[in-house]
Amino acid sequence: MAYETIDVRTEADKVGIVTLNRPKQLNALNEQLMNELGEALKAFDADERIGCIIVTGSEKAFAAGADIPAMAKYSFVDAYKGDYITRNWETIRSVRKPVIAAVSGYALGGGCELAMMCDFIIAADNAKFGQPEIKLGVIPGAGGTQRLPRAVGKAKAMDMALTGRMMDAQEAERASLVSRVVPLDKLMEEAIGAALLISSHSLIATMAAKESVNRAFESGLSDGVMFERRLFHALFATQDQKEGMDAFINKRPAAFANR
Ligand code: CAA
Repeated sequence: MAYETIDVRTEADKVGIVTLNRPKQLNALNEQLMNELGEALKAFDADERIGCIIVTGSEKAFAAGADIPAMAKYSFVDAYKGDYITRNWETIRSVRKPVIAAVSGYALGGGCELAMMCDFIIAADNAKFGQPEIKLGVIPGAGGTQRLPRAVGKAKAMDMALTGRMMDAQEAERASLVSRVVPLDKLMEEAIGAALLISSHSLIATMAAKESVNRAFESGLSDGVMFERRLFHALFATQDQKEGMDAFINKRPAAFANR
């Protein structure tokens, strides 16, 4: 499929890479881009060769937020009834394979929210995160007030949402918003390395791990632990568990068949 606002490629036939590509608007997220991103993610999720997906942007901007001119004239009825601004965002959460955000430059507003919807964030040392919606007379609308406090705690989330200030990559790593910070010119190498490693594991176990970690944010501890235990038990029905443990015992690399 031909896309206009994103580029799509694969690495080693194992990793799907989506690059946001509206450079003149610093990858501002309009309806077309969100539609295309959703389609590309669904296609990689369904592609049997792909074990992990990366979403990235340009050096200057991962994404500078929802497209401000596109929504500037919305009435409440437009926003609520059409749900233009936030529709399609949940597609990202429905992807069952791991999604890594490789962030350089600005990840602001919806851009920060998009990065947080991914499973983890690898940041370049020039990355800047923020929820500046308050400066536009609104608040985050794609999960920022909910995912940011879960990631960085209430104090920093309130600080970000109320002042609209940006957090640099080092602060974001200290606050656990991102899992790693690397030099800008090493960002894709690092993200692809992580994605290839993830792709080398059992896909079924990887999907179960993702589902179980995400459950930690949706349930209390005892429900979450029970959910994890049931998935753990279920993995003993897979050929990959037999292969992985046999490979360990016989001191050889595992060859997972994703069965
Ligand atoms: N929407 C549309 N266009 C945008 C944009 C956005 N969110 N952010 C930047 N652009 C455009 C600018 O209008 C400008 O276009 P022109 O050259 O045609 O004027 C171009 O990108 C370059 O931007 P700047 O000249 O402003 O670049 P800069 O380097 O001086 O500043 C910036 C960069 C700090 C990111 C600044 O552009 C900025 O503050 N952008 C807005 C960030 C923002 O408020 N995001 C939140 C949006 S609301 C939201 O996301 C709601 C939600 O939760 C879903």
